[in-house]
Amino acid sequence: MNSASIAHPLFQVLMEEHKKILSKLAQIDLSPRRDQWLPLLDEIMQLIEMDHHFKEEKLLFSRIYMNPKINAGGPMCSLFFDFHMSEKIKEQVERITSTPLMIEPHQEDILKTHCPLTLPIEEHQAGKDLLKYIIKNMTHLKDKEISQYLSLYKQIQFSHIQKEENCLYHLCSNLLTSQEADEILELWNQKE
Ligand SMILES: [Fe+2]
Ligand SMILES: [Fe+2]
Repeated sequence: MNSASIAHPLFQVLMEEHKKILSKLAQIDLSPRRDQWLPLLDEIMQLIEMDHHFKEEKLLFSRIYMNPKINAGGPMCSLFFDFHMSEKIKEQVERITSTPLMIEPHQEDILKTHCPLTLPIEEHQAGKDLLKYIIKNMTHLKDKEISQYLSLYKQIQFSHIQKEENCLYHLCSNLLTSQEADEILELWNQKE
């Protein structure tokens, strides 16, 4: 099998999106006034959660989760899982929201297999549930709580992007043929 590589345009497009995500997250610190937060958080919800993460799960993860080589990993991937274990992002977010993480219908089949994609999906969902909670409770949360939760949200995204670029995307590229990566890219670029 002629596998795709991290240099395939699909992964370049995804990493370009990470740059946009990081610059959008940087705007949080540049928006000190409370009335600026809600529109910005709505934009972040759309860009990161509804668009980038949703497409990663629906177009990329769904394509590789049944591949038996998914458990192969690599040296950088042990870093991924160690981080995951020590941070316990899921528990931190569940403590704040007082609710178990949501599971969305398109995630169910992947999660059932307990494959390594469970971890990035859990990070997506922890971020999304936390952001939803902040947006929903914006009016009665104290400024200090909002900044504490937003700083956790940013931390989740920073570490998630680092892990994807150093581990997960490499693993994905090894599990896809160039043609499959072309097909995913075509779907990725389609407007819904
Ligand atoms: Fe992701
Ligand atoms: Fe990503």
